[in-house]
Amino acid sequence: MNNPPMIPHIFVTRQIPENGLQLLRQKGYVVTVYPEDRPILRKELLAGVKGCTAILSLLTDRIDETVLEAAGPELKISANYAVGFDNIDLEAAKKRRVIVTNTPCDEVNESVAEHTFTLMLGLARRLTEADAQAKTGKYQGWSPTLLLGMLLQQKTLGIIGLGRIGKAVAKQAVKGLGMHCIYYSHKPDLAFEKEYKAEYVPKEKLLEQSDIISLHLPLLPSTRHFISTEEFALMKKTAFLLNTARGPIVDEKALLRALRTNRIAGAGLDVFECEPAIDCDVNDRLELKSFPNVILTPHIGSATKEAREAMSRVAAENIIAVLEGNPAPNPAQ
Ligand code: DGY
Repeated sequence: MNNPPMIPHIFVTRQIPENGLQLLRQKGYVVTVYPEDRPILRKELLAGVKGCTAILSLLTDRIDETVLEAAGPELKISANYAVGFDNIDLEAAKKRRVIVTNTPCDEVNESVAEHTFTLMLGLARRLTEADAQAKTGKYQGWSPTLLLGMLLQQKTLGIIGLGRIGKAVAKQAVKGLGMHCIYYSHKPDLAFEKEYKAEYVPKEKLLEQSDIISLHLPLLPSTRHFISTEEFALMKKTAFLLNTARGPIVDEKALLRALRTNRIAGAGLDVFECEPAIDCDVNDRLELKSFPNVILTPHIGSATKEAREAMSRVAAENIIAVLEGNPAPNPAQ
């Protein structure tokens, strides 16, 4: 007699919007959600994944050989609840034939693009300085020179990494704000260039010509410290740097030097090299937090209700596809 088929067991490392979890439960899977509202501890992760068929992980979870080993031979998929998947060891997963997936979708692209604009507009119009002045009673009346900012119209936006999110930023900048777009990416996109009058340029030229430089690269060994001392040296002194991608793409020490010496005009950062710490070295007296021309947000690029629900759905759809023997819609490998 054949053994009855095993009921798939999905381990979810933190509470995420219910809509995706519902899809998994409707399939009859056993869904276990880590109950605490904080990143799961390593030992809890190793215990939680034991015997599971799928892991639904967050970017704060390191999914490596040890975790895959702890899960055991039933594990088919590690579905990351994020677009980035630098927290997952793809080689280790491949060796074990575990599929890795991510959650690219329009809602995330547009949410991260809108957050990039929030930082860009905030820097250009000195929003946090203005807000602080108004709230602390320092406003003495209108002045022709008070908090002068930068007009974005007709300025040059340099996009580094023309993937889905980079494109969403570029489109809105060109169509919405009347900016000029140049970009550097792994390959030119001629249709995009035609539609948005964008220009593909080498990295050095982009750094030299841009008024705003916005990073939209994945974190890979080749993109770690993609922006460091040499790159800051090429930028305009009036340029702003935006990072809504991954912290280690920017060499934080080089950024701090560039800010301290007014090598650039400011930065908008949603991600940090030593996340969740805002500064890698809090004792170096060059803390990011001390600059009025730096806007910091705590990795909330995709933090809209719409994006987080879409991510939940997409992660679940990937799990269902793989467990039903179909190709994953969003494979990372
Ligand atoms: C992602 O999706 O990679 C974001 O950084 C987190 O939402």
